[in-house]
Amino acid sequence: MCGIIGAAGSDGGPDAIDVLFEGLSALEYRGYDSAGVALANSPLEVYKARGELEALRSTVPAAELRGRTTGIGHTRWSTHGPPSDANAHPHTDTDRRVAVVHNGIIENYQSLRDELIGAGVEFASDTDTEVVPHLIASQLDAGAEPEPAFRRAVDRIEGSYAIAAVFEGETGIYGVRNESPLVLGVGEETRYLASDVPAFIAQTDRVVYLEDGEFVHLTGDGVRVTDSSGRPVETSVETVDWDAEDTGKSGYDHYMLKEIHEQPTALRQCLRGRVDELRGEVTLEECSLEDAGRIQFVACGTSYHAALYGAALCRRNGVGATAYIASEYTTDRIPVDEETLVVGVTQSGETADTLRALREAGQAGARTLVVTNTVGSSATRACDETMYIRAGPEVGVAATKTFASQQLALTLLAGELSDSVSYADIKSLRAVPDQIQSVLDTSRARAVAEELVGSDAFFFIGRDLAYPVALEGALKCKEITYEHAEGFAAGELKHGPLALVTADTPVVAVVTGDGSTARKTLSNIKEVEARDAPVVVVTDGQSEAGRYADYVLEVPATDELNVAVVANVQLQLFAYWLANLMGRSIDKPRNLAKSVTVE
Ligand code: AGP
Repeated sequence: MCGIIGAAGSDGGPDAIDVLFEGLSALEYRGYDSAGVALANSPLEVYKARGELEALRSTVPAAELRGRTTGIGHTRWSTHGPPSDANAHPHTDTDRRVAVVHNGIIENYQSLRDELIGAGVEFASDTDTEVVPHLIASQLDAGAEPEPAFRRAVDRIEGSYAIAAVFEGETGIYGVRNESPLVLGVGEETRYLASDVPAFIAQTDRVVYLEDGEFVHLTGDGVRVTDSSGRPVETSVETVDWDAEDTGKSGYDHYMLKEIHEQPTALRQCLRGRVDELRGEVTLEECSLEDAGRIQFVACGTSYHAALYGAALCRRNGVGATAYIASEYTTDRIPVDEETLVVGVTQSGETADTLRALREAGQAGARTLVVTNTVGSSATRACDETMYIRAGPEVGVAATKTFASQQLALTLLAGELSDSVSYADIKSLRAVPDQIQSVLDTSRARAVAEELVGSDAFFFIGRDLAYPVALEGALKCKEITYEHAEGFAAGELKHGPLALVTADTPVVAVVTGDGSTARKTLSNIKEVEARDAPVVVVTDGQSEAGRYADYVLEVPATDELNVAVVANVQLQLFAYWLANLMGRSIDKPRNLAKSVTVE
């Protein structure tokens, strides 16, 4: 979950240090406990600092580095060794002949480290990564040129990795990927390599997605991609259809707020070309779902909440479906056969737990489909089929627009799987973006947050399709406020959690419609009201919920199948304003990273 950027240019090209800082800033969502850069020169120039990128900026003598056109940079989310200057990347060999940045985990690092220490190497960090420059150096000592030295070192390591290296006296960058993302950018004068496209989108929209096991050598003159045996690999250059503005804050204080407001656009993109109102048809041209038997969803965090939502929709449509937390999913405990469709839900397409579950399911004979936001991500390669949610880039660590897009995409999937979509369903789906816009325009979430900030804890309840939304509301709240927040099935409160409820623990209830489900949730609201808890209801006004609430967050009346998508927006805004009032680091919450590429 670290971020890598590399830029290889020719003499007279753009200064690498500017490109590296710009790229690192775009990649901070992947980790931000320390950062570093190495400029290709003789000698190599390496700068590292613990803390956010600003700490590195104040360490680097940028004016002295003008004229260097090739370099690598890294922003770190610790796995081996605490955040510190020493553990920050790039790591070098003892004589500083090579500098390396790495994203992933080297599983056999301890035995390699023991071997290298036995050969007299002194380590400067606690990281798994540091074995790589020392392995390369031992090859250089044995007389190898940089490229074979790099390849032979990579041959020795096991695990997941995207690695980039620069050598003293060389003007290019060597890279490799295995189960960690690495994408190339093809500019006019400079070639780029990064963990994700936003790192270089300001320079070029022309990209090459590397496959696992591929090596690359980038210079100002071009890009050479080879397989593990050194044979040239034909690559295709794709053009991404978004630009730097799409990854900027566009005047909002935080990416999270911007992304919450982008939901109407994101959902329109998700629906585009996939629904035909007149025929009452859903067309998912990119994946064939024929003859799917039982559905198993696998996902983590917010995506797991979307998976719960998707599984509930499938069951409503008569399709057997269960959602599993990916890290708890193994095919020896949860059997699959060739009729099982295992659906991974993952915004990034790089989440290690989800990838492992999908790969295991595929190996056990199941068909696999990934529902993702990220074109060319590892999950798209690991699965038989892909459905994109088309939410556009999401930078805030707390997932918002991608959750809404996942909910809508899974609504389409559930409809397609059961062949049970009507004209009315599609009309109602098409109305969701406007309904969300009306929530964004009128929400009182900020005023309610002002009243309730400082409470001891926050509880969220809902039933049926509002249950995953209650879980998601609580996750958003805890992620960015760092306060205790829990989501419960409304009916479960009385089976234990009610013991936690006091006058200092607001309970946020999602109650829509006026059926028996809403009436039962009203009873649960009365239970917490009797314990003096402040009650916030998110309601479409159809039930009497407003009468029992201290605070009301309104949503437009809509189809019961979609109302939870709209209601969730109020919970996002409530969490955002709580965190904002508390002065929290909203886009980069404590201890979290956007893309979690370790199990
Ligand atoms: C959501 O706000 C979190 N950042 C986290 O729970 C996230 O949803 C989870 O790590 C899964 O990520 P993915 O969708 O990229 O697989």
